[in-house]
Amino acid sequence: MALAEPGKIAAAFAHALPETDYEQHIREMTGFDGAIRVFLTVAVSLAQRRCGGSLADEACERMLEDAVRRSGAKSTLVVGRINMENKASEMMSNRMGFEPLTEGPDRYNPDMREWYVVVDP
Ligand SMILES: CC(C)(COP(=O)(O)OP(=O)(O)OC[C@H]1O[C@@H](n2cnc3c(N)ncnc32)[C@H](O)[C@@H]1OP(=O)(O)O)[C@@H](O)C(=O)NCCC(=O)NCCS
Repeated sequence: MALAEPGKIAAAFAHALPETDYEQHIREMTGFDGAIRVFLTVAVSLAQRRCGGSLADEACERMLEDAVRRSGAKSTLVVGRINMENKASEMMSNRMGFEPLTEGPDRYNPDMREWYVVVDP
């Protein structure tokens, strides 16, 4: 990543294929019938936080590009749960075009809300 110091990790991301029942839930909620990936996290090292978010945005952008690539360069819905107190993460998701899937918290996780975005190749 652009701001990484030699030998140090500045930012990381992880995403995965959804479990079958979670995929079904997302399809029911969105009506989307293309590829789905679940974003597990985007994280910036403590030393590089509170610097305006450009590194977080770069990591998130790379995560979305990688999700589309692993879906075979097809339009992909990327969805993940964010703790409702994690305002830094909500702000990053907003900047990257994510929208909340529901008004309130996730039905199964009262502390969390699901956020999603559809990314085209
Ligand atoms: C989510 C994340 C990648 C966003 O990175 P970022 O866009 O660089 O955002 P920052 O962490 O710099 O925080 C941005 C804003 O959130 C708020 N914020 C962040 N941490 C805060 C804290 N501990 N207390 C109060 N406000 C905080 C502030 O308003 C801050 O803006 P400021 O820099 O003007 O003060 C980063 O916060 C992170 O790595 N968090 C830990 C991992 C995580 O929670 N990932 C998401 C799980 S899905």
